[in-house]
Amino acid sequence: MNEIQNTIPLSIPNISGNELKYVKECLETGWISSAGSYVDKFEQMVAEYAGVKYGIATMNGTAALHLALILAGVKPKDYVIVSNLTFVASANSIKYTGADPIFIDADPKTWQMDLDLLDEFLNNKTSINSDGERILISDGRCIKTIMPVHIQGNIFDFDRFKLICEKYNMSFIEDAAEALGSKYKGQSAGTFDKLGVFSFNGNKIISTGGGGVIVTNNKLLAKKAKHLSTTAKVDPMLYYHDKVGFNYRLVNVLAAIGVAQMEQLPSFVSKKQFIGNYYRVNLFGVGDVEFQHVNDDVDHNDWLFTIKTKYQKELLKYLNINKVMSRPFWMPMNQLPMYENYYYVTKKDNCKIIHDSCLSIPCSTGITEKDLKKVVKKIKKFYNSCI
Ligand SMILES: Cc1ncc(COP(=O)(O)O)c(C=O)c1O
Repeated sequence: MNEIQNTIPLSIPNISGNELKYVKECLETGWISSAGSYVDKFEQMVAEYAGVKYGIATMNGTAALHLALILAGVKPKDYVIVSNLTFVASANSIKYTGADPIFIDADPKTWQMDLDLLDEFLNNKTSINSDGERILISDGRCIKTIMPVHIQGNIFDFDRFKLICEKYNMSFIEDAAEALGSKYKGQSAGTFDKLGVFSFNGNKIISTGGGGVIVTNNKLLAKKAKHLSTTAKVDPMLYYHDKVGFNYRLVNVLAAIGVAQMEQLPSFVSKKQFIGNYYRVNLFGVGDVEFQHVNDDVDHNDWLFTIKTKYQKELLKYLNINKVMSRPFWMPMNQLPMYENYYYVTKKDNCKIIHDSCLSIPCSTGITEKDLKKVVKKIKKFYNSCI
């Protein structure tokens, strides 16, 4: 236990607001389960913060992605184009629908989906069938939608992405799981097409323990999302369900935590950005450290601060031994056994380079300046004495 207590954690929840008060209220009134006012309030707060009309809360971000794909009409045997550098839930949610992912390599600087590759792929390998659907030429299967993932809360050149989508008549669903608080030209991540998804698991910028929200401006989609997430129940009195729905809703007691977290979100975003700036200034020119490139149009939430170095393995080992928790990037999808034989659009496999050279360093919103200084000191010491 002491060992853990003395370690500077990577990115842990910050429970310093009204969480206990609101949860206590749920416990005292008995409203702990699927009904209760905190669910509605949490949905409204997330939607309002993101600047959209509707939010639909779910038990986690993966369930939210699954529902969003169903709402976008993704069916078995379809394809969905998705970033190869992502957390496994993006690809899994596609598989849950019976569709298959087509992975796109990452841009070496921003680590987001490479838009040159996306454009080239759609241009060279796809066409339109007699029903007006975009298909993969080699097997005639429909490419239903695109799922860009805002890796680490960063956002790519969205204007260009939208032009590509318009050119090929493609819709998209944003996996904005990590990007609550990030903006492109002043507009919130997750709100650029009909459906976007946020996650609130333990390491996210706010957390409900586990949770997710689908955001949309479309009333019908919002209604359908709520319906599907609540076992497609038609009548609250009679047990009448009109579809094979899902039990994906977020419970009131967790939504209560979410409301308390949302109250603090602006200060959490500021703190994450403070931490990001601190590291950018203090690690600039240290060893061979490089940072994720952020385009000028992007207001980055700096969710999980990550550096790039050719000494990744050695630095990871050194920091973890020295009680500074650090972790590599997630393994790219094409390297996982269940996805290694899927279509991967790449030239240089930038995902491998990023995966082999990046590591995330402590950036919890509750981190002290003393601990930030300690992290920087350890990294400097590593470069001065270990290589
Ligand atoms: C990019 C990305 N997509 C999806 C998810 C899934 O969210 P959850 O863990 O809430 O199911 C996460 C986070 O865990 C994520 O980082």
